[in-house]
Amino acid sequence: MKKNKLKFLFKSKKIGKVFFKNKIISSPISINMAKDGLVTKNIIDFFSNLAKSGVGMVTVGATAISKQGNDTLKGMMSGKKIYFDGLKLLSNSIKKNGSVSSIQLYHVGSQGNPIHSNHETVGPSEYHFKKIGVRSRALKIEEIIRIEKEFSDAIIQCYKSNFDFIELHLAHGYLLHEFLSGYFNKRTDNYGITFKNRFKIIKNILEQVYQLEPRLKGRIGFRLSANDYVKTGFNLQTVKQLVKNLDKFNPAYYVITAGLYETAKNKYQDMKLGKYWEYAKEIKKITKTNIIAQGGLTNLYLAEDLIKNNCADFVGFAQSLIADPNLIKKTIRGEEEKIIPCIAHLKVGSCHRCRYLKQKDNTFSCITPTSWKPSADIVSKKNIKKDLLIWEKINKEVYGKYKK
Ligand SMILES: Cc1cc2nc3c(=O)[nH]c(=O)nc-3n(C[C@H](O)[C@H](O)[C@H](O)COP(=O)(O)O)c2cc1C
Ligand code: SF4
Repeated sequence: MKKNKLKFLFKSKKIGKVFFKNKIISSPISINMAKDGLVTKNIIDFFSNLAKSGVGMVTVGATAISKQGNDTLKGMMSGKKIYFDGLKLLSNSIKKNGSVSSIQLYHVGSQGNPIHSNHETVGPSEYHFKKIGVRSRALKIEEIIRIEKEFSDAIIQCYKSNFDFIELHLAHGYLLHEFLSGYFNKRTDNYGITFKNRFKIIKNILEQVYQLEPRLKGRIGFRLSANDYVKTGFNLQTVKQLVKNLDKFNPAYYVITAGLYETAKNKYQDMKLGKYWEYAKEIKKITKTNIIAQGGLTNLYLAEDLIKNNCADFVGFAQSLIADPNLIKKTIRGEEEKIIPCIAHLKVGSCHRCRYLKQKDNTFSCITPTSWKPSADIVSKKNIKKDLLIWEKINKEVYGKYKK
């Protein structure tokens, strides 16, 4: 065991009163397995399995604050009474299995696709998503006020259902990011034109939440985009301006990411080069709030270096943990050669099986033999067998051999 080599990573830490046994976070992952927005057994199994993997915190992926904010009919939802029991079961199960729990809340905004969601798409302004031919409608003021309330209801509900932290998705081109970004937000009223106005929706949500539930201070984290790869979108300079404004609201942490749906290619290339970690390092220089660096992390030694080199306070893993949830345990045992890597980390664009929006039937599963497998009622055994055959084929192409 080379744990002494990983002493920064395995040192415990606190955010407020919440104790983290280490600095490894499982990044937000949505698996699109809800039923009518409700938490299902597969969802509980998936995130509990991540909690068991030894991470310090599990982040449940994008959970919509309303039907209009959902990207598919199988996305998780929050805010209404009906969702409470499932959310509580989920957060309790994550905690019972040894990890701090966080849940990411979002509204899909203009990047939604009616084919998957069965509803129109809306955003701060009209937007034509040329790649899929979808045009979204600009929200009216009264609708924005309703969305602020829906966010506030969902945040408070998730806190009451026992999540330690609530993460607001302010990145990847979803609604709150769209309001902040000059690329999407062309409004001429007091939700547009200046940065102060574009920040208004977030300010209103946070003020409402803290007024109704002051215990949420220090419990809200934010996912931020350090680069949208489009003119008038976010870059390092604008994200620093955002951080300075968010810092006034007592945030728990910032997770640093980049890219929109339109600019996914740039994003994957940047990630492979470790650019996200450089962004994290730059942002860390201007704030005292905890920074989570993530994107393209393939092993714990890389993660240790990021913390040691002041790029981050915590590190986030998604695909490496999906592909092999035993990554941490195998590393601790000194069995690194037995870790099954994510194929997409080895070769950009080689595999996207887990990205459910890219699948015809919108199903989530990972093609590696070590990954968590959903129960057969959601993804058939036949499907899983097919995935494993694809894995062997891709793996042979990428590696030239099948690793055991
Ligand atoms: C299946 C899957 C689902 C994801 N769901 C979300 C999500 O709900 N919210 C989010 O902000 N990012 C989501 N991501 C992005 C990850 O959190 C992460 O930023 C990205 O995969 C890069 O990190 P990695 O190289 O460790 O995988 C998802 C990624 C995958 C593979
Ligand atoms: S399905 Fe493919 S891209 Fe997704 S985690 Fe598994 S190996 Fe990686």
